[in-house]
Amino acid sequence: MPEPNDVLPVTIQHPRFPRASRWDANWQLQNMLGTNPLWLTEELMHHLPLQPGMRVLDLGCGRGMSSAFLAQEYGVQVWAADLWVSPDENWQRVRDLGLDHLVYPIQAEAHTLPFAGGFFDAVVCVDAWHLFGLGEGFAGRIAHYVRPGGHLAMIGPGLVAEFEHGLPQHIIPFWQQEFWSLHSPNWWRDLWQQEAGLDVIYADIVPDGWKLWLQWEEIARDADYEYAADDISLLQADAGQNIALVCTIARISDVDPGCDP
Ligand SMILES: C[S@@+](CC[C@H](N)C(=O)[O-])C[C@H]1O[C@@H](n2cnc3c(N)ncnc32)[C@H](O)[C@@H]1O
Repeated sequence: MPEPNDVLPVTIQHPRFPRASRWDANWQLQNMLGTNPLWLTEELMHHLPLQPGMRVLDLGCGRGMSSAFLAQEYGVQVWAADLWVSPDENWQRVRDLGLDHLVYPIQAEAHTLPFAGGFFDAVVCVDAWHLFGLGEGFAGRIAHYVRPGGHLAMIGPGLVAEFEHGLPQHIIPFWQQEFWSLHSPNWWRDLWQQEAGLDVIYADIVPDGWKLWLQWEEIARDADYEYAADDISLLQADAGQNIALVCTIARISDVDPGCDP
């Protein structure tokens, strides 16, 4: 299997993400759908005990960047599931990286997944859970696909704390519909912890996550991705007071709760 550097020579160096720093910058910019999924995945992996050969569902994988990264860097097998991005397109990307023995693209809707109960060692979700997983019961249904002792893990945009007194004045001008689904680590902990069979072992903001998010948007802006300007305005105005990257990880209890998907 080729090393990413053999295939993709130009990189974006970040001292916090030595693995992601080896990956090609243009590939990252061409395939991104939000905050850099390689950075987010490497951050998530600081807290997630995956071993080579494990079966991982990458839920809402987009263009499969996190899927390829998990396979290449950590040696896991990844089922790369997404609703809107075609699996044909993702398969081509996977083959181009020489990862076709480890990454399996599939088109799937997060609420009607076509997998056997207990099949996966982990479900990971990068920058997507907030789009489909706000409802009570959803995390429990996803946990059905994970073996006892396995993990459910998500990382993505969120809040430092819930807005108890309405939106702060300084972010009102920048607050768009896409931000309405953002929540704090405590909110996610409460939502997940009420599910039978889920034990939340980590729920926190990513240290200086807003700065990472801003750094990535500035890289995207400098590469002429105009949409980045909106997020940059919000992140600069807020300076980490409210907007964050959040990470939540739960362990599936050893006793299968037996919930139907
Ligand atoms: C912001 S993108 C992030 C994609 C990818 N994880 C990344 O970080 O590049 C969110 C992804 O969630 C997927 N998505 C949204 N709703 C979904 C659903 N109900 N089921 C499966 N995927 C969904 C979209 O197709 C999109 O690719």
